[in-house]
Amino acid sequence: MVFQMTPFAFSPENEAKIPAILKRYPEGRQASAILPLFELAQKQCGGWLPPEAIRHVTERLGIPEIQGYEVASFYTMFNQRPIGKYHVQVCGTTPCMLRGSEDIMKACERHLGIRCGETTADGQFTLSEVECLGACTAAPVVQINEDYHENLTEKGVVEVLKAC
Ligand code: FES
Repeated sequence: MVFQMTPFAFSPENEAKIPAILKRYPEGRQASAILPLFELAQKQCGGWLPPEAIRHVTERLGIPEIQGYEVASFYTMFNQRPIGKYHVQVCGTTPCMLRGSEDIMKACERHLGIRCGETTADGQFTLSEVECLGACTAAPVVQINEDYHENLTEKGVVEVLKAC
């Protein structure tokens, strides 16, 4: 049986951004544009990268589709399944862990009523643990969509979630 996927195409608005993205890379190295093109595709798809978008981007860059999956599965910023409106990403790497990230995660799980890796039934929140968010001096850190919340406490993270 041949697996058929719904075709993906960039919107005209996003399509117009692509030439400038490709120009950032030296001739013959345009495959490196996979990260910004995945980012563009993910935003267009509402926060996740469906298989058809991975296929479209890799075909366009002339690289094997499996490389697309390698990249998409390596970076936690890419989601290979639909996520909630708010993606709550708790950093669990050592500096954040030493400053209480496990308690932050538990507070999120209690408040949202889900476990790490799950999405609330109303589709509002997805809870994930991620590696270092690059803001270790402000540990513990939680990223929600594109915003960072730093120096969090259990009470503080619940306030942030309530404000979403
Ligand atoms: S370890 Fe959490 S931001 Fe670096």
